[in-house]
Amino acid sequence: MTTSQDSIGRDARVMRLWEELTEIEQRLIPTGLHVLGRAAEFKQKTDLLRMVASFDRPEHGARSLPALVAEGLGVENYDALAQERAVSEAQKLVDSIVSATIERFCEGGAEAAVKFVNEKAAVDPRDSLPIFVMLTNICARLDSNQELPALLRALRGEYIAPGPGADIVQNPSVLPTGRNTHAVNPYSVPSVVAFSRAQTTADALLTRYREEHGRYPRSIALVLWGLDNIKTQGEGVAQALWLLGVRPIRDALNRVVDVAVIPLADLKRPRIDVVMTVSGIFRDLFAPTMLLLDQAVRRVAALDEPHEANYLRQHVAESLEHETEFDDAVTRVFSNAPGNYGTNVNFMVMDSQWDTAETLGELFVTRKSFAYTRDSKGRSIEGREARKLMDDTLARVDATYQNLDSFEVGITDVDHYFEYLGGISKAVQSRAKNRPAVYVADSLSPQTKVRSLEETVRLETRTKMLNPKWYEGMLEHGFRGVAEIENHVTNTFGWSATADAVDPWIYTEISKTFLLDPIMFARLFELNPHSLRSLAKRLLEAHTRGYWNPDEGILEQLKDINHSLQNSNETLKADATA
Ligand code: BEZ
Ligand code: MG
Repeated sequence: MTTSQDSIGRDARVMRLWEELTEIEQRLIPTGLHVLGRAAEFKQKTDLLRMVASFDRPEHGARSLPALVAEGLGVENYDALAQERAVSEAQKLVDSIVSATIERFCEGGAEAAVKFVNEKAAVDPRDSLPIFVMLTNICARLDSNQELPALLRALRGEYIAPGPGADIVQNPSVLPTGRNTHAVNPYSVPSVVAFSRAQTTADALLTRYREEHGRYPRSIALVLWGLDNIKTQGEGVAQALWLLGVRPIRDALNRVVDVAVIPLADLKRPRIDVVMTVSGIFRDLFAPTMLLLDQAVRRVAALDEPHEANYLRQHVAESLEHETEFDDAVTRVFSNAPGNYGTNVNFMVMDSQWDTAETLGELFVTRKSFAYTRDSKGRSIEGREARKLMDDTLARVDATYQNLDSFEVGITDVDHYFEYLGGISKAVQSRAKNRPAVYVADSLSPQTKVRSLEETVRLETRTKMLNPKWYEGMLEHGFRGVAEIENHVTNTFGWSATADAVDPWIYTEISKTFLLDPIMFARLFELNPHSLRSLAKRLLEAHTRGYWNPDEGILEQLKDINHSLQNSNETLKADATA
């Protein structure tokens, strides 16, 4: 390699590092647990308000604050700049003015903020005022939460006022908290906005796959959750429709009752086969939507189009060659048996109750292979056991995918992401004889990002588990905080077990941060020796299951620590019974 090639390579690596650092820096992360009844503190509040202000809010006559600042500074093409991976000087300047303006707002109110952003970035007060009027309103509702009184009313069996369910940033009208979350009207799903956002996200997903594989994915397995589709008014549903190449049709009452096929000439890409595994909650809340999705699949499978432009039709034709009936060959909506919920993959992982990785995929299919479809007479079938059909369909899957809907809950915060997205990925792996590409979309930021699962695990590890701001925030909650850290380790481990998506260095750094640092170890032991013991055991399990091969020194230290923790357990038990 010549010197100039060397330096080009080096520059590219430095650039990439810079991009990753800024991505981590800009990520909004919750620090610490929510305490029932306690209002957000200053820092949390400014972070939240900054995010709220970064979206256009036509319902409040407010435009995005970063866009206004960029315009005021004469930055051209701010939207395009913001979409780029690299953060430019201009974008940094815009971001710093936005942050300072929000802080000024929190300290001095709307008028002070309007004046400040006018001085710093020549933003016309007529443009900025609606934003700060909206934020003033949100601030008041953030301060006046009803959580404790509402809990007491609930315990007395009294009425609790209803409120919409959503992420605060996506829909600030969820405030004040402490209300009874109501679902959406399933006939309103997907909303017009959800369908429009879904196009951007699903296109980003297809682009990402093509960049990595040089072709479109022929079949994608999607995970659809109920609460997510309530929060986003059906973005997950809309993504499935868009991948198939259909759009929702509304009746005179504005109810989504059917789909219309988007012509290939307008779609400008093949129709993708989609397999939908939906949660029990989704099935219960969105019965008409289940039928709509089934209808969309049937419509697309029946189109007279060449196979290379309609992968669903191609796959259905392949199934028909093997003596499958049309109604079976088009089955794509799967869930639990009626009355059942969840995959149990999370419990199997947490309790270390599996021998080979395939067991986890098998469990997923056992729980989720119930078809929600129609029979040949058009009568709906709700939850017919259809393991063979699910096996056949999963064998064709190239990629698995889930849409993230919340700023507050990520893929290592709860066990449900790995039980669903991990579970289906493992099921695909043994059926397709190939590990699928696994993707996660952040449809929640103004700039939709589709990341691989591995990238998402790295990002979450760096912004949460290994980030002192995050773990110190947790440790302020004492016993519970240590339990949360341990939960995150287990959830991360769940991504190794189900999807081989965790880099070995992650386990090394977790060990160094929480077990091998004597001061941290002593703090954790003092606060919660039980969770600390589970954490040490889990890291050793990650090694014995082959997810991580630490160097001898670290391994020996971990074994010693584990040994002494197990002994301390005996001492603690003896103390407790004495
Ligand atoms: C759901 O909203 O469908 C869901 C919630 C928690 C875990 C799994 C699914
Ligand atoms: Mg749970």
